[in-house]
Amino acid sequence: MNSLLNQLKLNPFVLAPMAGITDCAFRSFMKDMGCSIVITELVSATGLKYNSKKTIDLMKYSESQRPIGVQIFGENLEDLDYAGKIVEQSGADFIDLNFGCPVPKVVKKGAGAAILKDLKRVEQVFKTIKSATSLPVTVKVRTGWDDQSRNTVDLCHIAYNEGLSWVAIHGRTRAQGYKGQSDWEYIKDVKAKSKIPILGNGDICTAEQAVQKLKESSCDGVMIGRGCLKNPWLFQESVNLLIKQKILDKGLTEAVNASFEDVFKKLNSQYSLCTSDKIRVLQLKKLSSWYSAGLPGSTQFRKEIFKAENSEQVLFNIRGFFNKYDPTSIKSYNNNGFLMGGHG
Ligand SMILES: Cc1cc2nc3c(=O)[nH]c(=O)nc-3n(C[C@H](O)[C@H](O)[C@H](O)COP(=O)(O)O)c2cc1C
Repeated sequence: MNSLLNQLKLNPFVLAPMAGITDCAFRSFMKDMGCSIVITELVSATGLKYNSKKTIDLMKYSESQRPIGVQIFGENLEDLDYAGKIVEQSGADFIDLNFGCPVPKVVKKGAGAAILKDLKRVEQVFKTIKSATSLPVTVKVRTGWDDQSRNTVDLCHIAYNEGLSWVAIHGRTRAQGYKGQSDWEYIKDVKAKSKIPILGNGDICTAEQAVQKLKESSCDGVMIGRGCLKNPWLFQESVNLLIKQKILDKGLTEAVNASFEDVFKKLNSQYSLCTSDKIRVLQLKKLSSWYSAGLPGSTQFRKEIFKAENSEQVLFNIRGFFNKYDPTSIKSYNNNGFLMGGHG
């Protein structure tokens, strides 16, 4: 039995990879806040071949994050083969392939979403990685290169034949970028026609949406990205809703009851463990400004927090602002216009 699938049965909500955000500290934090499976941001197979320290650092994880996947991208089969072996040596639990990155610098070389244009190439990449490693392999895709070439059903067929463990679908084409809505009807259709487990992804901002999309699409899991940057309780709330609807057994999950104060304590301690003071301050500024959206006084708070020069000032500002609110005050569940660019 596929161990990743077993994990999804216990908790189907997976943290989407997001470059510059889902670093080691943030993944530990989200795991603590109720998500099931985490994946690193995209890691360059060519960067691994050249032994780039910056690239290797992206693969760092802590034991509490398991099961942890390392996402790799690249166009060169030899580099991908090498990267597969390196990820296996790192002790990660699975390898995730990035076939969704729409960024021109990546697709121009034939990597990321560009691979979707050629299903023969898709098959070659799957074969290369599967022969490089005995780890489970997953893939994250867009629905196609453009509206005229949506080919996820065929891709899923190949992925199943090559022994991949799941296909995660961000319901937009590469041509769409982040415009329009993630097409969950298409995702549902792909799921109905595929033998391989499917994760649906895109535009989930509330627990109600997470559970509704999971049920309506019959997907094996739901991958959530930007939603948890506005609402850090999103995974926990989604799991709790499944328990309430008796879809999940209470005994299988651990309820998390974190206040705003707990959230920032957890974040601060994870970033203290994993990164430099400079990065910790930057990430705390970004996350607290996203979490504050929609709360009264948030515009002024955001101005002040970005002026803060050190961690003491940042934490002082955060405490002063968020202590007034309890978690249920977060109302701004909307991704419209929020982070309309990324690597998948
Ligand atoms: C800032 C940012 C960075 C991203 N980086 C990655 C990445 O490294 N790999 C990847 O597969 N997808 C990446 N994505 C895409 C997300 O994983 C996800 O597919 C997309 O944001 C849609 O889901 P959401 O609406 O839940 O955010 C990124 C998205 C954003 C906003």
